[in-house]
Amino acid sequence: MKAFLIAAVAVASVTLAGAAQASEALAKEKGCTACHDVDKKKMGPALKDIAAKYKGKADAEAMLVTKVSTGKGHPKVKANEAETATLVKWILAM
Ligand code: HEC
Repeated sequence: MKAFLIAAVAVASVTLAGAAQASEALAKEKGCTACHDVDKKKMGPALKDIAAKYKGKADAEAMLVTKVSTGKGHPKVKANEAETATLVKWILAM
C-alpha cells in the first residue's frame, strides 16, 4: 500500500512537471517569451509578476484570455484562444 502511494505521488508530480514544460514550450513557440520572461521584466511584465497581480481574482483568467487573444490592450499574438487559455492558466499558476 505504501509503495503504491509513493508510486502514485511520483506519477502525479511527473505529470504536473510535464504539463508545465509543455506550456513553457508553447510560450516559446508562440513568441510570448520574446516579450515575457518567467521572472524578469522584458518588453512585457515578468510572468510571475502577472501571476502575483491577479492572485485570488476569480475572473482574471477569462479576462486575460480575452485581452491577450483579441489583441485589445495587448500586442497581437500568434496563439489562438485555446492556446492562450492554456498559457494564461500556466502563468496564473506560478
Ligand atoms: C510584442 C510583445 C509581446 C508579446 C509577443 C506578448 N506579450 Fe504579453 N504583454 C506585453 C506587454 C507590453 C504587456 C503589458 C501591457 C499589457 O498589460 O498589455 C503584456 C502583458 C501580458 C499579460 C498581463 C495583462 C494584464 O492585463 O495584466 C499577460 C497575461 C500576457 N501579456 C500574456 C502573453 C501571452 C500568453 C503571450 C503569448 C501568446 C504574450 N503575452 C505575448 C507584450 C507582449
